[in-house]
Amino acid sequence: MQGKRVLLIVSGGIAAIKIPETIRRIRELGGAVRCVLTRGGEQFVTPLSLSALSEDKVYTDLFSLTDEHEMGHINLSRDADVIMIAPASADLMAKMAAGLAGDLATTVLLATDKPVICAPAMNVRMWEHAATQANVATLKKRGIIFVGPTEGDMACGEFGMGRMAEPADLVAALQTFFAAQPGPLAGRHAVVTSGPTHEPIDPVRYIANRSSGKQGHAIAAALAALGCRTTLVSGPTQLADPAGCDVVRIESARDMLAAVEAALPADIAVCAAAVADWRSADAADKKIKKQAGDDAPALNMVENPDILATLSVAGNKRPALVVGFAAETHDVLDNAHAKRERKGCDWIVANDVSPETGTFAGDDNTVHLITAAGTEDWPRMSKTGVADQLAQRIAQHFEAAE
Ligand code: PMT
Repeated sequence: MQGKRVLLIVSGGIAAIKIPETIRRIRELGGAVRCVLTRGGEQFVTPLSLSALSEDKVYTDLFSLTDEHEMGHINLSRDADVIMIAPASADLMAKMAAGLAGDLATTVLLATDKPVICAPAMNVRMWEHAATQANVATLKKRGIIFVGPTEGDMACGEFGMGRMAEPADLVAALQTFFAAQPGPLAGRHAVVTSGPTHEPIDPVRYIANRSSGKQGHAIAAALAALGCRTTLVSGPTQLADPAGCDVVRIESARDMLAAVEAALPADIAVCAAAVADWRSADAADKKIKKQAGDDAPALNMVENPDILATLSVAGNKRPALVVGFAAETHDVLDNAHAKRERKGCDWIVANDVSPETGTFAGDDNTVHLITAAGTEDWPRMSKTGVADQLAQRIAQHFEAAE
């Protein structure tokens, strides 16, 4: 972030109260922030507080003679390396999608040729509304990078998707963006699977596992940070979408396979998802009712498709490098070696998921990288550290092959 200039557009929403902390963090990392505050944004955070933290003027008015004289709305974006909109209200995103330019923020956004990172924040129903989703799709198609929203309790008392990403996530998105300009994996495409799958028993019950998605999401972010176009196919998680990745959300193993196959061709596949090995053969389409005196229903299980094994034999669509994970509770290395052979992947990352290791859902991991050349024991480190090291190894692999 050292020396990077961020133009931060702050629109109306309670999440604007997270912006002073975001500015503080960007500046701590050596970045410069200049703010544009909309009329709505001014209801939640004052120009004075943003100005004090950014140590710069805060711009609010399209028709301010002083501002136009000193800077000019075109120069606001010309002077920036990136524009971040946080919070991005439903209204602002709709105006962007429609190409409206009725105030300073929308005029800057219509006039800019700089990359834009958008952090939406709104009520869950507004986020889920078809109009908002269509606007998001339009903006993504135009190359706007999205960070969040996430799921959680909302200021309006509801629960769901629509909370703005936290200041740490906004800063991480900026770091990812700057790190990816351009990287050793530029021009390559990676497909990463992450999180658990949910296998329905009936419309209200499902079989799942303890994966949080932290490891897989970190790998997707690390690959994107090296300039790789990254498609993340994720099962249900509570995590924000990693910045700079195309994210496809799915529920079941069969959905995951379809999404992975749709994302091909790819140079790299990393299967970090904890895919359910089995599903109920005959998931009921109505809730299975419990009647007094009934025996517990028996589940008739069938095997799910194996995504890693399918990718490893995908003929001319096989990614050049297929990396699997092995989640083991005992005989970790022996089982992982056997899994690599059986599934036909190039590398396998073995990790111990016994309850005492805290690997599932924890922030740290201890892994062993198994390749045709042998086994490397990596020290215990954060899942982000594992992801960064794995992404670096993948980049070296392609550099060596060139
Ligand atoms: O999500 P976190 O809480 O951060 O936890 C991270 C993790 C422990 C889930 C991750 O590090 C990990 O080990 N992921 C693989 C989990 C798993 O399902 O392992 P497995 O040994 O059962 O499967 C072996 C490989 O086959 C994996 O790459 C898996 O994605 C793949 N697989 C398995 C079954 C299936 N039907 N399709 C698959 O692709």
